Amino acid sequence: MRATSSPVKLVSGAIRAPGDKSCSHRALMMAAVAEGSTTVSGLLEGEDVINTARAVAALGAGVERLGAGVWRIEGVGRRGLTSPTMDIDFGNSGTGARLMMGLAAGHDLTARFVGDESLSSRPMDRVLRPLREMGLVAETAPGGRLPVRLTGGRLKAVRYAPPEASAQVKSAILLAGLRATGLTVVEEKEATRDHTERMLRAFGVEVGVELRDGAGPVVSIRGGQDLRAGEASVAGDPSSSAFALAAGLIAGGEAAVSGMLDNVTRTGFMTAAREMGADVTILPDGLATGEATVRAIARGSALRGVRLDPALVPSMIDELPIFSVLAAFAEGETLVTGAAELRVKESDRIRAICAMLSANGVEVEELADGFRIQGCGSRGVPGGGLVEARHDHRIAMSALVMGAASQASVSVDDVDMIATSYPEFFEHMAFLGADLTRADR
Ligand code: S3P
Repeated sequence: MRATSSPVKLVSGAIRAPGDKSCSHRALMMAAVAEGSTTVSGLLEGEDVINTARAVAALGAGVERLGAGVWRIEGVGRRGLTSPTMDIDFGNSGTGARLMMGLAAGHDLTARFVGDESLSSRPMDRVLRPLREMGLVAETAPGGRLPVRLTGGRLKAVRYAPPEASAQVKSAILLAGLRATGLTVVEEKEATRDHTERMLRAFGVEVGVELRDGAGPVVSIRGGQDLRAGEASVAGDPSSSAFALAAGLIAGGEAAVSGMLDNVTRTGFMTAAREMGADVTILPDGLATGEATVRAIARGSALRGVRLDPALVPSMIDELPIFSVLAAFAEGETLVTGAAELRVKESDRIRAICAMLSANGVEVEELADGFRIQGCGSRGVPGGGLVEARHDHRIAMSALVMGAASQASVSVDDVDMIATSYPEFFEHMAFLGADLTRADR
């Protein structure tokens, strides 16, 4: 389906953040290997997470949906995960596929992982390299891509320093480390989201974290620890919330999001927006498993271009598409560097961001590891373009938010994949006053 977002006078209102995608995957995976039954609440019911629920079921866990966002998982405990009877399809989800490789690696099973066109073009070697060192047997399609056939079994602990700042790589190694002999250690280049560490602790697992100056933390886990089943609640997703908050900032009015995860490894977007002059208020509003939550309120603001501190990039890696939209509306130039990881997301996001903005009359320059944007400021963003989503939910949502405050409507060629991470996006945006229409292509 294609969609068009037409300019509106005001975006205003309050919504509840949808469940965090990262925490939802992790809650399902940990519950699946815990001893006993876990009830997960606040689960994001997007396609990516549903694929993870199907995957853990295919590997032997009991999975039952009790109500909206509430799922009961019967963990396999010491019996371990078992071989599925069919291929496991992770759809569009890099997190699902990569973390599951780590989780499955220490179990006595053989499985074949597949994904959609976008996921099948993304690198899996970054997780398979350390997992093979631990003992996983994996055959990939050329270039280290999906489909991947893996055979798990006995693992030995490793000490590994991933060359990329990636929470997925760190998490895959830690999840494999649960069943490895010895102490598994990950030396992070830069700090990345730490939801795996926090949720493992909530499931009763000891995780060591040693902070370092000038580099990311050293995270360690001793193999052979059992996970304790129980209750797990998922905080709201700051990456999805960023769309409503950005709409409030550029379209005027006051957009509020409650229940949003507040974790320093995820707050880069808020920090960067404030640096641009965004009027944002953050108030504590609750707790979820391993995480605190806040209510964020964003009001229409005159934004200024910034040189983004590259150190902020890991904590806003998924928000860079919507951040580029803020930069398009800001007065002056915005420079983003140190973001080469964007090239291997659901699309080549550097290329996709540049194409999205230039199709809508914004001057932008593509860099190897980022982009430079000439903000339109008081002249306004022309809009009027058709954006190619490139199988990328965050590009599609960013373009639609841009349309709400541009001079002319912005269209997106395909919006179906928005359901991978934010099924209520259209409902929420309409509630806030955006003018979105959808039509068959
Ligand atoms: C995620 C980590 C990030 C992020 C992705 C979710 C996670 O990927 O972009 O959307 O849940 O661990 P990388 O680890 O590849 O940076």
